[in-house]
Parts: sequence; C-alpha cells; structure tokens
Amino acid sequence: MSNLIVLGAQWGDEGKGKIVDLFSEKFHAVARYQGGHNAGHTVYIGERKFVLKLIPSGVLRPGVQAVIGNGVVIDPKALLEEIHGLEEMGVDVKAQLKISNRAHIIFPFHRTLEKISEGREGHVAIGTTSRGIGPCYEDKVARRGIRVADFVDSDFAQLYRALAEDKQLIATAFKLTDRVDFKEILEQYKQFAIEIRPLVCDTQHLLNGLIREGKSVLFEGAQGTMLDIDFGTYPFVTSSSAAAGGACTGTGVAPNKIDGIVGVSKAYITRVGAGPFPSEDLTELGEEIRRRGNEFGSVTGRPRRCGWFDVPLLRYTAEVNGFDSLIITKLDVLDELKEIPVCVAYEVDGKVVHEMPASTRRMEAIKPVFERLPGWQTKTQGVAQMDKLPKAAQNYLKFLAERTGVEIGSVSNGPERNETMIIPGSKLEKLLQ
Ligand code: IMP
Repeated sequence: MSNLIVLGAQWGDEGKGKIVDLFSEKFHAVARYQGGHNAGHTVYIGERKFVLKLIPSGVLRPGVQAVIGNGVVIDPKALLEEIHGLEEMGVDVKAQLKISNRAHIIFPFHRTLEKISEGREGHVAIGTTSRGIGPCYEDKVARRGIRVADFVDSDFAQLYRALAEDKQLIATAFKLTDRVDFKEILEQYKQFAIEIRPLVCDTQHLLNGLIREGKSVLFEGAQGTMLDIDFGTYPFVTSSSAAAGGACTGTGVAPNKIDGIVGVSKAYITRVGAGPFPSEDLTELGEEIRRRGNEFGSVTGRPRRCGWFDVPLLRYTAEVNGFDSLIITKLDVLDELKEIPVCVAYEVDGKVVHEMPASTRRMEAIKPVFERLPGWQTKTQGVAQMDKLPKAAQNYLKFLAERTGVEIGSVSNGPERNETMIIPGSKLEKLLQ
C-alpha cells in the first residue's frame, strides 16, 4: 500500500472530503498538513451529513489513525466543538485523533486582527473565512506564535502574556471598539488545554513510525493549489502551503516516503472569496450551475462563484504538484447542459498564452478562450462504469485528460460514498492497491 497525497487542483471545495473518506478505508492513517477550521469537508454517509473542518475525514472510519499535523493552525474552541459534535454522532474521536505538538494555536485576537485588516479603508479585502487563520500564520512566521506543545505546558501563561501585550499595543493603536479581554481568554484557554492535552504527541514521529512498520498514510490537503501561499492567485490566497510540498513540511514526513499524488478537480470550477477567476461565468448559466451543484460554502455558507473547467489552470496545478492522477467530481452537475464550455487558453494583453501569469494585473486581464463540447443531457448520477456513461460524457472526460496531460483515475457522480468509480488499469487504481 502507498503513501498518498490527495489535494485540491483548483480553488478548494473540489470534493476532497468525500474522496478522502472513501479512500481512508484502505489506509492506516489520514493526516491533515495545513490550514485550519477555514476548511470544510462534507461527507454524506447514508442519511447522515458530516461537516469536518479541522479533523481529517479519515476519522469517520473506525480504527483509522487521524492526525492533525504541525502545518495546521488550531483554534482549540473550534476543535473541541468539532470533537463533541462528532462524539454526539457516535464517532470515537478521542480514540482515533492525535494532534501535533508543533502546530500553532489560534486565539480570539487573531480573528479581531483579521477583521481590522479586511475592513480597513482603501484595502482590497481578500474575502477570508474570518477564522483568524492568516494572523495566526503571521505570528508563526514572525516567531512569536504559541505552539501546541507550549500551550499544554506549564509555562503557557508566561508565553501568552508576551503575545497578549503585543496584541494589546495593536488594539490600542487601532482604537479598537471590540473589547478584548485578555485575562478571560487566558482562563478559557487553560481549560481547553486540559481537554486537548491527552491528544497531543509528536505526530511526525508517530507517522514515520507507522511508515517504518509498512503502514500507509493518506495526506489530506485542505483548500486548493490556487489558494496556496506561493502558487495561488496571490494575494487572494490562504496563508498556508496547500500544494503537495506542504504535505512534507506540514507533517515531517520526507518527500521520498511519498508514493503518489492525486489531484481532485470538479468537472467545472468554483471559487469563494475575492480574486481573479478567468473562466468565471457571470451569466444565468453560472447561476444554474450554482443551483444544481449546491455551490454554497460548507463553512461560511457564502455562494460560490462558478465557471468552467480551466485547462491552463489544471496544467499549472498538475506541474506544481506532480499529479499522478486526477479525480473528477460532480460530473452529474453538468448532466442537463446542451453544450459545455471549457477554457483552453488565455488571452492576455492581446496575446494567446497557455501559462498562468504571476502578476495580479495580468491575471485580472485574462480573457478566457473557450471551446464548446457537446453535452449529454442524460442522467449520470451513480453510473458506476466509464463505458456506461453517455458517449458525450466519456468524450468530455477524455478531452480533459488529453488537454491537461494527466490521466483521469476516478470520476465521482453523486454525493454518496459509492457514487465514485475508480478507472480499471489507472495509476490511481494501482496506488490504492
Ligand atoms: P482564509 O483561509 O480564511 O485566510 O481565506 C483566504 C481565502 O481562501 C479566501 O478567498 C477564502 O474564501 C479561501 N478559502 C479558505 N478556506 C477555503 C476552503 O476550504 N475552500 C474554499 N476556499 C477557501
């Protein structure tokens, strides 16, 4: 069995939760490597809907070791709420979950700082999830953050006071109207620490130990490559390394232990928050995709912007991540369309280009070049074999594979676990054996 990274090939919300949940049956451990409770992975099991934010989807399989890696930022209140919610639904989270002692802690003032920054006059808002993710990563990189190991240790109060003094200065400088009660936060966090302490360990050691014993690990990406701090549409990105490289730095497992990298992409594309989106459809058709695909954020409930499969974007994310295989989700959302536009190139400043521009101005200047493929106008939900799909749907998938240069190893056409086909003979099938 392989060690596999599964991550988003677009701007997040590609349906990774369902895929990771499905695959996790075959793995000993599932590890999150970046982000925080800004992520929202929705998994349907029978009639029941689970929304996971911080905890890896693998936790829904009894016996699977779930790991929150060092690259993640943790809001203890959100974590405990999620744990309690899952426990109420019968999941034995505490028996399965371990949290890295090197992950960083989010405090309420991180959210306050984010609000100031997003609302500042003259500042272009990123459209963040308002979870304090960015300011927490800022403290991490500035070397003043508080890690889980210190949070659950006896000297937490001392470290906290130093950080709180810093934030107090900012609050005063900005004449903050929201009252920040630093003392109350300290007392509350001391209680959180007591409950979280038994779950904390050196997860890099745990994961490497499992791998040494020949056990397999699934690395679960959150957000998507186009939201990666380095490779995404900067500055309209999240603050962590969502791309495949982040799986190693965010867990402490070396690159030579990874056997395969799998990208998840919708059959179309969506994005939440602000920022360039070359193939966005602002017409009634885009609205229709939103309705059919139920494209509303699972964490914030915000309507997602909808558009068409973007070949240059997928070629770019395939290169950055080294995709061995692509999983196409929500194919059935396109079922009723007569014609499906696919963005095959970009026109920037009068020139046709196939690469992803780095500059924001050039990104925003992109005019998408579309090809239109025939739709299939047949119900595909739950069809379990590629050759049982309508011919036009097979051709659509073939077109995507040829243009992106990556095999399509799996197609998901419905929300249920079993509404996912793995293509026989694909690299993905081998990686899952
Ligand atoms: P932040 O991660 O809250 O700082 O938000 C930064 C950007 O990433 C915003 O555009 C968010 O909408 C987006 N974002 C963060 N998490 C997710 C996610 O799980 N799915 C989709 N977009 C996300």
